[in-house]
Amino acid sequence: MLFVCLGNICRSPTAQGVLLKQVRERRLESRITVDSAGTAAFHIGAAPDHRSIRVAAGRGYDLSPLRARRVRAEDFHRYDYILAMDSENLSSLQSIAPAESRAQLRLFLDFSSQHKFTEVPDPYYGGARGFDLVLDLIEDASRGFLDQLRSRLGG
Ligand code: 4NP
Repeated sequence: MLFVCLGNICRSPTAQGVLLKQVRERRLESRITVDSAGTAAFHIGAAPDHRSIRVAAGRGYDLSPLRARRVRAEDFHRYDYILAMDSENLSSLQSIAPAESRAQLRLFLDFSSQHKFTEVPDPYYGGARGFDLVLDLIEDASRGFLDQLRSRLGG
């Protein structure tokens, strides 16, 4: 599965780090590949934002090895799920997805247990608290996603 945001330096690498850890805890790493990408090209090759790295490290996630890339045409064939952080990301994906795309394009927070937020807000221009909120929303939706997938994978 592939997480997608705008820059691939805040929200989607955070989601990649969180889901990967939860996948390992559930011993599903041989069955689930986790990646992330951005719809924009601003930050290709860059490490995640230092605020994302710091807040995630505080909860035991290491984002430091990740590097930003842009969504590629082959992603639509490679992944079963491409999960967008906000509706703008989802629209961008829908506009570039080939008709024969194998991936389901969804909003990530469709898998959330809370109803206050339907999108993961972009923390880039906000304060440190925005990064904590991003992590709260992502931890919750990641659990929801894996719970749904477990029934699909059988066990
Ligand atoms: P992200 O956050 O989409 O969560 O990685 C952003 C990072 C950079 C920019 C926008 C959003 N930017 O405009 O450079």
